[in-house]
Amino acid sequence: MDRFRAFRIHQVDGHIEPRLETLTLDDLSPGDVVIRGEWSSINYKDALAATGRGRILRRFPLVGGVDIAGEVLSSADPRFRAGDRVAVLGCGLSETHDGGFSEIARVPGEWVIPLPGGINTRTAMAIGTAGFTAALAVHRLERNDQHPGLGPMLVTGATGGVGSMAVSLLADRGYEVVALTGKPEQAADYLGQLGARRLLDRNTIEMGRRPLEKIQWGGAVDNLGGEVLAWLTRTTAFHGNIASIGLAAGTSLETTVMPFILRGVSLLGINAVELPRSVREEVWARLAGDLAPAHLELIVQREVSLESLPGSFEGYMDGSVTGRTVVRLS
Ligand SMILES: NC(=O)c1ccc[n+]([C@@H]2O[C@H](COP(=O)([O-])OP(=O)(O)OC[C@H]3O[C@@H](n4cnc5c(N)ncnc54)[C@H](OP(=O)(O)O)[C@@H]3O)[C@@H](O)[C@H]2O)c1
Repeated sequence: MDRFRAFRIHQVDGHIEPRLETLTLDDLSPGDVVIRGEWSSINYKDALAATGRGRILRRFPLVGGVDIAGEVLSSADPRFRAGDRVAVLGCGLSETHDGGFSEIARVPGEWVIPLPGGINTRTAMAIGTAGFTAALAVHRLERNDQHPGLGPMLVTGATGGVGSMAVSLLADRGYEVVALTGKPEQAADYLGQLGARRLLDRNTIEMGRRPLEKIQWGGAVDNLGGEVLAWLTRTTAFHGNIASIGLAAGTSLETTVMPFILRGVSLLGINAVELPRSVREEVWARLAGDLAPAHLELIVQREVSLESLPGSFEGYMDGSVTGRTVVRLS
């Protein structure tokens, strides 16, 4: 394919301008593996990048999209051959390197993950960075001795991509999952089907102010940051873990050392973008095995094309989006 279409983000007079363009391979960032894109997905970060609401791209122009899955067309890296089905998630896509909203991608072989058996390219993108991040959080929580006996797990931003996957994965593993959401009425059925036992309305929670509040959670997966994360530190059980993933509500964290030194609470930082390859492969193997998401088709709420991408980001910015969006590339 000499010429192909891509969703490329420009900066013009300080403003972000995404355009659907026709490119050639020479237009793309260098790399030793060329992939024919089959599927991509939309993540919160893609919406920040495409709307200009967050500083994600570190140079311009760049093809957007932090995820891609497809077929290897050619490879100078001996680990891959034409015809292999692979995925690239995070690494530098749509930050420093042309990304996944493209019919063709060219990337360093070190970033390429061969898809484990049972995971096709659409499934890989239904999971995408959001699902992979939720699985990485569960992996790290349990490595740090989280178990259902510690008490209920609270998932915040529960209807989002990471949240939906976290609710489903944790419920499947026998945790009593409580979902914190800004849309308790609209999403009650959805979250119940994913396995949430109880819903909390994020607009009405009483957070208290003391350094330690009554214990409510065995642990948590937090997508929001800010005062909700601070409240979680004050209300998590002895030796419980909080996986800090996101910043949908803010980047601040005002708490004290009391939860850490008096209750032994652990705050686990989750970074799914820059991760040792060995851990990435281990989590993918688990996603094809004991962490295989049971409700993936329910979580995929939308399928869009490259042409309809420009109108697909606003729901991520106003928090109205539910579940995951996959992008059909070819
Ligand atoms: N650390 C990492 O490696 C990593 C990887 C992937 C994502 N992330 C981060 O994780 C977070 C979630 O990502 P995602 O892809 O799941 O995003 P998403 O699909 O847009 O979901 C975010 C959810 O957060 C809630 N929310 C949105 N705006 C909010 C606001 N202003 N205040 C409070 N809650 C709000 C909404 O859920 P409810 O209505 O149900 O509350 C929304 O559905 C983002 O901050 C993203 O940047 C981090």
